Amino acid sequence: MSSPAPALRSRRLLLASLATLPFSASSFGQPIAPASTPVPTEEVPYVQTPPLLVRRMLQMAEVNSRDVLWDLGSGDGRIVIAAARDFGARGVGYEIDRSLIRESRALAKKAGVAARTQFLERDLFELAFSQPSVVTLYLLPEYNERLKPLLLAQMRPGSRVVSHEWDMGDWLPDETLLFPAPDKPHGTKKEHRVMLWVIPAATAGRWQVALENKQETVEIALDQRYQIVTATANRGKVLWSSLRGNILSVAWQDESARWLLRGAIHGNLWRGELTKLGAWSNSTSQQAVRFIAKRQ
Ligand SMILES: C[S@@+](CC[C@H](N)C(=O)[O-])C[C@H]1O[C@@H](n2cnc3c(N)ncnc32)[C@H](O)[C@@H]1O
Repeated sequence: MSSPAPALRSRRLLLASLATLPFSASSFGQPIAPASTPVPTEEVPYVQTPPLLVRRMLQMAEVNSRDVLWDLGSGDGRIVIAAARDFGARGVGYEIDRSLIRESRALAKKAGVAARTQFLERDLFELAFSQPSVVTLYLLPEYNERLKPLLLAQMRPGSRVVSHEWDMGDWLPDETLLFPAPDKPHGTKKEHRVMLWVIPAATAGRWQVALENKQETVEIALDQRYQIVTATANRGKVLWSSLRGNILSVAWQDESARWLLRGAIHGNLWRGELTKLGAWSNSTSQQAVRFIAKRQ
């Protein structure tokens, strides 16, 4: 059997060397996901996402003119072009196939979005992900698995990841859409699946919450696995907790009432508003009181 072409050989060497890097998916010391480092062995074939699905992926990620979208393995550039043309975003497509890069640039020019798009011949595993606010994927499971800790560690909280077809293993999606596809030419399942993940802030730890206008504090301890947070309080009772991006909400009950603490996490600070929850629903009533919480 003949040896692989130089470009392919160097890519395999790169993937093998990346496999030994210890990635932590948190910049605050407590990993929100286990580091995982499987090495993709299979080549991702060139298959296009149908245009309707491209649109649904971009809608799902709520792409807008403030976004920078990267498509990893961008094929003919359709996702990047649609993000720029129909949603006003800026976009970059990374692709290893040079002829597809040429085709993408020509299609972007034709669509009138050449100034807001870029197509670069790069291996997606050479990239760092601090720039994009949206990443789109149509790859293979082992590629997603390999990318998972990198996206979690490097993308800003609140950034979005959308994948066509393949999931992220134990990192469950925030949203999933299924579309019947009786004419799908490959795979046994005659449906398309697209999934959305919102990059969670790192929240685990003990938070000392001080309530403005009240001489009170409460300590809330948070455990986290990806976007799933579990909270307990040193007094009263936590009813539920949720995290989307860097917005953390904790519903908490003390001897007087049920309260909602909702605010944004920035590093070791969580700031927001405390509102009283209605008696029979989670609708908030009365005036909000500001709170500030510090991670111990
Ligand atoms: C399934 S196609 C998806 C194309 C496009 N994103 C879409 O949804 O229509 C996957 C693409 O990834 C490219 N690709 C595969 N491995 C890659 C790598 N390591 N770096 C960059 N692109 C890669 C392939 O050449 C192919 O065009």
